[in-house]
Amino acid sequence: MKLKNEYREIIKNMVDNENFLLLKNDIHHGSTRYDHCKRVSYLSYLVTKMFKGNSKDAAISGLLHDFFHGNTNENEDISYLNHPKISVKNAKLYFDINENEANIIETHMYHYALVKNAFPFINKREKVNATKYKPKSKEGYIVCLCDLLVSIYETLVFKVKYKMCLYIIFAFNLVIK
Ligand SMILES: [Fe+2]
Ligand SMILES: [Fe+2]
Repeated sequence: MKLKNEYREIIKNMVDNENFLLLKNDIHHGSTRYDHCKRVSYLSYLVTKMFKGNSKDAAISGLLHDFFHGNTNENEDISYLNHPKISVKNAKLYFDINENEANIIETHMYHYALVKNAFPFINKREKVNATKYKPKSKEGYIVCLCDLLVSIYETLVFKVKYKMCLYIIFAFNLVIK
């Protein structure tokens, strides 16, 4: 409970910001981007506590790591590698973030950059130099990892469940026809 209260105190002015609240309108891994950011933020906060890092920086950068609106279909500038830059820009515009927090947000797609370096045929339009995405701090690696874990969890729980429901309804319709 003490941890949860401390965490709430860190993020309280951000979660109620009207521009940040707009993330509730953006779908992300079958959930909302607002909920995704909160999950990454809280997990990063807890993990950073375990590893004796700067949990405040982890909570804030975790919360703002996907602070952008829309998706690739609506806006070409939004891509796997470019959206961290947009998030940093928005984070600086609406909040007072420090250098470490900005770097954590900017490098949170390091996992994707590594995979793309290993398999360059994935999304050929985007060229990547993975070293540019290398986090500069312990918290940077933690937020990157927590983002990956939360994304896998959300995809399995929300997206797959949703698709399963659609398939079941479709099959049910076939049977009762
Ligand atoms: Fe992201
Ligand atoms: Fe994310």
